[in-house]
Amino acid sequence: MSSLPLPSNIEQLKAYSSAKSEKITGTTWLNANESPYARDFSLSLTDLNRYPDPQPEAVIERYANYAGVEKSEVLMTRGADEGIELLVRTYCQPAKDSIAIFTPTYGMYKVTADTHNIAINELTQDQLQQLNAKEIAALVGESKLVFVCNPNNPTGATIAPAKIAELADALQGKALVIVDEAYIEFSAALTSSQLIKDFSNLVVLRTLSKAFALAGLRTGFTLAQAQTLAPIRKVIAPYPVSTVVARIAQSALSSDAITQMRRQVQILNGLKQTLCSWLSASSRVLELKKGEGNFVLVAMQNTIDIAKAKQSGLIMRPFTLYGQDNWLRISIGNESELKQVKLWLDTLNTEGKIQ
Ligand SMILES: Cc1ncc(COP(=O)(O)O)c(C=O)c1O
Repeated sequence: MSSLPLPSNIEQLKAYSSAKSEKITGTTWLNANESPYARDFSLSLTDLNRYPDPQPEAVIERYANYAGVEKSEVLMTRGADEGIELLVRTYCQPAKDSIAIFTPTYGMYKVTADTHNIAINELTQDQLQQLNAKEIAALVGESKLVFVCNPNNPTGATIAPAKIAELADALQGKALVIVDEAYIEFSAALTSSQLIKDFSNLVVLRTLSKAFALAGLRTGFTLAQAQTLAPIRKVIAPYPVSTVVARIAQSALSSDAITQMRRQVQILNGLKQTLCSWLSASSRVLELKKGEGNFVLVAMQNTIDIAKAKQSGLIMRPFTLYGQDNWLRISIGNESELKQVKLWLDTLNTEGKIQ
């Protein structure tokens, strides 16, 4: 405990925990929805004595082209996570406002809200899927921000852009609809980026951490109409993007690099089919949620099955969902990484037969 008393929201905060923050050791890493494809970058840097461009022009231009929006509609951030934080800090009043989320979903919406003393209006993925936009808007009530993760982490569930448009329409003047498209490259037709021109209360979050294979770079983008980004530009740190990061991001967004990224997405989507066929055939897997991201979610028969994988160095992400602690999210790695999953499943199945 610090000697200074903390604000109660910080005192009670549960920090976001990951395998990396918990210093778990492993040999095969399929826990953080990273890409298995690492690329070499070489840089010539002679101007690090100068502060960087706050929003590097060349990167903004390339990302705007890639996403099909105007340059004025792109804000580059330190990962999509910083986009989430900036939206909460800019648009919510601490101890007064709330954000709406649809659980189970990405954990950082809640962590960020808790950090800033913003309440959570917890709705469910089932409500998001089953209710119409007007009904959802009624449940959103007074919440200022509505986070829709599409495809959703960790379930992989998706929402049609037409429904996003209806929701933005129903909440016009009341709330921002934030579509977190961290995994959109794995199901590119589902993007809502083309709706930005029609709705001033629509925001799309993107990242280079997943399909672009640059989780270590910490680069994301917040896309919205210029008038919606304007207050965020006042809140963001003066130099959020280092010169080093900007150069690498620029190179990662060249047309050749985008073609390579799309090829890798195709390969990963193919490998996912293979993994799903193994999982479906295993008697130890009770349920498989295939979804549209670079990951799948499974309910295992027994939590011991999950512990066995970890003991063997195969690191996947366990979850407690729907009141059950037997869920496991498996990121789509390369062929040899997925073979480790197959080995684990085979061992479990053999043990099951012996018993
Ligand atoms: C849905 C979702 N949004 C945002 C992020 C964070 O992305 P970034 O690495 O760009 O901060 C993640 C990372 O796992 C995610 O799953």
